[in-house]
Amino acid sequence: MKRILSGIQPTGSLNIGTYLGSVKNFVKLQDDMPDYEFFIFIADLHAITVPKDRQKLRGLIKELAALYVACGLDPNRVNLFIQSEVPAHAQMAYLLQCNSYIGELERMTQFKDKAQKQQTNGVTVGLFTYPTLMAADILLYDAEFVPVGHDQKQHLELTRDIAERVNNKYNDIFTVPKPLIAKKGARIKSLKNPNKKMSKSDDNIKSRINLLDDENVIKARIRSAVTDSIGIVQYDEENQPGLANLMTIYSVITNKSFDEIEMLYKDKGYKEFKEDLGEIVYQELKPIQERYNELINSKELNDILDQGQEKAFKVSMKKLRKLKHRIGLGRNR
Ligand code: TYM
Repeated sequence: MKRILSGIQPTGSLNIGTYLGSVKNFVKLQDDMPDYEFFIFIADLHAITVPKDRQKLRGLIKELAALYVACGLDPNRVNLFIQSEVPAHAQMAYLLQCNSYIGELERMTQFKDKAQKQQTNGVTVGLFTYPTLMAADILLYDAEFVPVGHDQKQHLELTRDIAERVNNKYNDIFTVPKPLIAKKGARIKSLKNPNKKMSKSDDNIKSRINLLDDENVIKARIRSAVTDSIGIVQYDEENQPGLANLMTIYSVITNKSFDEIEMLYKDKGYKEFKEDLGEIVYQELKPIQERYNELINSKELNDILDQGQEKAFKVSMKKLRKLKHRIGLGRNR
C-alpha cells in the first residue's frame, strides 16, 4: 500500500501558517489521492526537545488532535495518532542516529536557529538529533510522499540521504520519501515581519492568527498586519512583501488567483482589502471552531486516536523488527 505521512508539533496553538501550509493540504490530498493510505500524527516527542510545561503540553496535544479532525481530516481515511504512543518511533530514531553523522546534523538550519534561542537554558541532545527522529517517523511507514511547508525541506533531504545510506548498507529497507510542498501557502509569513515565517513560537502574538482566535482578534490582526506605503493591491513579493503574504492567505482560502484578486481591488485600497480578508479568514475558521468545540472533550476523539495508534503500532513494529534483524541485533528468530 502506498502511503502519505506528516506530522505537526504540539508546541503552541495551531496558526493559519501551519493550517494553510500543511493541514489544508492533507485534507485536499485525502480526497485527491484515493490510492494512498494516510498517517498523520501529533509530534509530541519533538515538542520536548526544548523545555515544556507538563499541563500545557498535554492540553496542546489534545487541542491539536481535535483541530486536525475539525479541519476536515477524515478518520476513516487517515490514521491519526500521537507519536509518543507508538514506541517504534524513538527506537527507530536511535538506529538511524547510528547511521547519521554529526556533520550533517550540524548543518541543519533549524537546529542552528533553535540552538541559538536556547543558549540560556542549554541545548539538549534531543534538539540536535531531532532530524533523525523525523526521519524515523517517515521511514517507519515507507511514506512515499510527505506534505510539509517549505521550512521542512532540508529535514526531508536529510531523511532521503539517511534512507539511501541504510538501503545501501542493509539491502533496501526503506522507501525513499519525497516532500510534497504546496505551490502556494508553503511559506506564510509573520503578520508583523514578512521576512520571517509565521510561527507558533514567535514572542509577538500579533504576528499570527491562531485557529481558535475569536472574530475580533482575527479581524484586528489582519487590520494591523504590516504592509507598505505603495497603496496598490498587486502581487509584488519584493517591494510589497507584507501585502504579498496577505494576498497569499486570501488566494489559498478562496482559490482565487493573484490576477483575480488584483482585479477585484483595482480601484480600492488596502483598507477594503484587509476588511474583506478579515471576514474571509473568520468564515474559514468559524466552522472549524464549531466542530472543535464538539470534539475536544468527546469520546469520539479518543476513539479516533486509539484506532490510529493501533494501526500505526502494527505497521511501525514490522519495519522496526526488519531493520533490527538486518543489523544483527537480538536473536535470530
Ligand atoms: P511544525 O510543527 O513546525 O509545522 C507543521 C507543518 O506546518 C508547516 N508550517 C508552515 N507552512 C507554511 N507557512 C508557515 N508559516 C508554516 N509554519 C509551519 C511546516 O512546514 C510543517 O509541515 N518537524 C516538523 C514536524 C514533524 C514532521 C515529521 C513532519 C515531525 N516529524 C515527519 C513531517 C513528517 C515540524 O516541526 O513541523
